[in-house]
Amino acid sequence: MSLELSAPAQSEPACADDGVWLECIECGEQFAPFDAIHYTCADCDGLLEVRYADPPTFEDFEGSGVWRYNAALPFEEGVTLPEGDTPLHEVPRLREEIGVDSLRIKHEGMNPTGAFKDRGMTVGVAVAKELGVGRLACASTGNTSAALAAYGARGGMETLVLLPSGKVAAGKIAQASLHGARILEVDGNFDSCLDIVQDLAGLGEVYLLNSLNPFRLEGQKTIGFEILEEHYEDYGEYPDRIVLPVGNAGNTAALYKAFRELVASGALDEDQVPTLTGVQAEGAAPMVEAVQNGRDEVRRWDDVETRATAIRIGNPVNAPKALPGIYNTGGTAVAVSDDEITDAQRQLAEAGIGVEPASAASVAGLRKLRANGEISADESVVCLTTGHLLKDPDAAFEAGGDPEPVPNDTEAVLEHINDEEAGPLGGITRKLSAAADSPGVPALIGGGIGLAYLAYRRLRSDDA
Ligand code: F0G
Repeated sequence: MSLELSAPAQSEPACADDGVWLECIECGEQFAPFDAIHYTCADCDGLLEVRYADPPTFEDFEGSGVWRYNAALPFEEGVTLPEGDTPLHEVPRLREEIGVDSLRIKHEGMNPTGAFKDRGMTVGVAVAKELGVGRLACASTGNTSAALAAYGARGGMETLVLLPSGKVAAGKIAQASLHGARILEVDGNFDSCLDIVQDLAGLGEVYLLNSLNPFRLEGQKTIGFEILEEHYEDYGEYPDRIVLPVGNAGNTAALYKAFRELVASGALDEDQVPTLTGVQAEGAAPMVEAVQNGRDEVRRWDDVETRATAIRIGNPVNAPKALPGIYNTGGTAVAVSDDEITDAQRQLAEAGIGVEPASAASVAGLRKLRANGEISADESVVCLTTGHLLKDPDAAFEAGGDPEPVPNDTEAVLEHINDEEAGPLGGITRKLSAAADSPGVPALIGGGIGLAYLAYRRLRSDDA
């Protein structure tokens, strides 16, 4: 089966349910969508896609959020919190500094659980209910587990999540825990967790809601519809390029599918389809390796490491769907260092947009490709930021400034904020910590002033 951008709408096979069926992207085998559970092709183990007899046009969309796009989804409605309808921020300073014609940030961290995963889960959990399964499960670098826990709870279903031990940001585990998921910490990376949960799903023990599940990507497709609609409303045209972080490559595959469906219905011309550009962290960049070598297959990386733990993935399972998306839209992929990611995270924060490290990879990637000339100054670009700052509080503290201790006294606080360097306690703190590295006269003087100040404060409070 072709994943060409120009692939025409298909006629409905006998196995379809109300115009919806599953189809293998490798051998073309077709399956009824809800009679039995299929994650991959029963014949060749290829990835499956959800197919529709009637691909959507923009006129079909009404309402708001993910379910605005139900003409392109398997159901009219799902288990919702609700999700989608995320902001497309303007960032004029960042745009000017990077040097592109227009730059918008699609902040998926504004979804109910703080990541784009909610879009996939609202559909995935609805399908689970339709199939009548019991226990929902996923492997996760954190965000999928938070979304699964919340949507499973909403749907009244049992949830089980497998996480790589010690490599999941605090906010995400807190969410999975409070929403009632059973959390299993695996002594391995995300890819090993996914291997295990796939085994459990194969044994019929759990219903798998990773992005290997084709229905998850149906919900995530709506990011693409939203970007096109919002951009067109603001500029009268679609963006030239969408830059996004890549882990399992589910979003890359989902956005490409959204564009293919609009092209199939005639709603979008092929030359209006944005160029898909994937960004990975240098320590976990198998997709980048494949794209830069023009390969159709990705080599699994066994050892992966990055501060952007959400995309600490060595075996992007959706690569067979995502690579055609990058190649057929004239896109590319680029790797960025952890320091480049942190810089981009700070710059987004300066624009008031709080994101977790993986999200900032998109902006770091844009900056890199613009600097080396692969992206030109006349392009209109949308960067996807996939998760909220609060997901990873430790990374935020590392990237941000330190709190300054001050006394419980207005006058002292005033003095401190107006004269930061010389401010009695702030100055002392800084000087004493500098003194720990290189003890010297300034620290002693600072310490002396500080002690005198403390004595003065005590005297004053005794007076009161
Ligand atoms: N950004 C964030 C914040 C993520 O959590 C993920 C994936 C990605 C980007 C990559 O997206 O897989 O579609 O390419 N997180 C998954 C998880 C793996 O378990 O939460 P992708």
